[in-house]
Amino acid sequence: MKVLIVGSGGREHALVWAVRRSRRAPQVYCAPGNGGTAREAVNVPIAADRVDQLASFAKSEGVELTIVGPEQPLTLGIVDRFEALGLRIVGPSAAAARLEGSKAFAKAFMQRHGIPTGDCLQTRSLDEALSTARSGRFGFPLVIKADGLAAGKGVIVAPNLAEAETAIRQILEERVLGEAGSTILLEQFLVGEEVSFLVFSDGIHALPMVPSQDHKTVFDNDLGPNTGGMGAYSADWILSSSAHGELMERIVLPTLAGMAAEGTPYRGVLYFGLMLTREGIKVLEYNARMGDPETQPILLRLESDFLDVCEALLEQRLDRMRLQWDAQRSVCVVLASGGYPGEYEKGIEISGLYGIEKPAVKVFHAGTELRNGSLVTAGGRVLGVTAKAGTLQAALDLAYSTVERIQFRNMHFRRDIGRRGLAKEHSMAGHRS
Ligand code: GLY
Repeated sequence: MKVLIVGSGGREHALVWAVRRSRRAPQVYCAPGNGGTAREAVNVPIAADRVDQLASFAKSEGVELTIVGPEQPLTLGIVDRFEALGLRIVGPSAAAARLEGSKAFAKAFMQRHGIPTGDCLQTRSLDEALSTARSGRFGFPLVIKADGLAAGKGVIVAPNLAEAETAIRQILEERVLGEAGSTILLEQFLVGEEVSFLVFSDGIHALPMVPSQDHKTVFDNDLGPNTGGMGAYSADWILSSSAHGELMERIVLPTLAGMAAEGTPYRGVLYFGLMLTREGIKVLEYNARMGDPETQPILLRLESDFLDVCEALLEQRLDRMRLQWDAQRSVCVVLASGGYPGEYEKGIEISGLYGIEKPAVKVFHAGTELRNGSLVTAGGRVLGVTAKAGTLQAALDLAYSTVERIQFRNMHFRRDIGRRGLAKEHSMAGHRS
């Protein structure tokens, strides 16, 4: 069986890894892939947003299943295009991917269907945005979001009015984010614990994955600018069983039912970015794909055959599928290029990777490439050192001791991944003893 993974990040390397473990022993392609996928799959030099070229490749190569990693090809309609050609592909249609592609669409959808989320104003008017910020209607910090896809730069948390006014002007007046910022959303800042919750959806049924928690800012203690994610961990206790029940009943199933009722059923992986607030669980955002780096620790725990899940999803029988998960905790520590998420150097040689993987430790590549036989940096997020163990502390010890063996010039990583989880794990252990 030939399987194509679209994308080039750590998430896509993790997908390659998970698919290769299938009992179907598939031949795996990755387009365009990275230095890690080059060793475990056949890299195909087609960028993830070249939808027509990807479709031609899949058709001519006899690819039986395509799995899409990033959001951009989804919003460009890769799924619609493949399906029109009779090619099997896992991901939402362009219409369904608007849940990520347009934050204004997603907010209005949640309001139409009574899905809990923060209060917000959507506008294209500079005057209205500025006067709303000045009125203090949503208080401070104020969350300012560009409507469209902005490569991780579309959400600003402004601590005060001066910074809010600057961000509003930059987006609506100076158009620093281009068309993505032609509409903005001003939102209430929600306080609580953030959780990433991903489900497989066949349009009707939802099959949940294990919960995880991302670390978005570049520096320890949640300081510095936001990144794509500097690390993540997964443990069942991130969500209590009552929170899980509330989430499925009030958020996940109404979302799928709402999408189906609007004639755009959601098929693929749907990511719920959530805030566990004192007033209940609220949706911060939807993503039309798996998270990065959440995918890495999640897939390290998956014991079921990933291709079985894809087949069940495409055949709309996820209700008859049960996923098997390793009960251990898992963690991913991202190693980034110095300067990321701002300017950074590329082409720096990476060393120390030889012989460091073990059954419980996997190094997923993101911004790497093979150049003349050497592995060099090629992006902001370079590697995701992913490990699992019986406790979060043991998983972190394993991941960080592996990190110590890897070097590249100006390598930067957070040293506090999982810290909030550790506090929770310790308090649970305290209650048991
Ligand atoms: N880690 C956040 C995201 O994938 O959007």
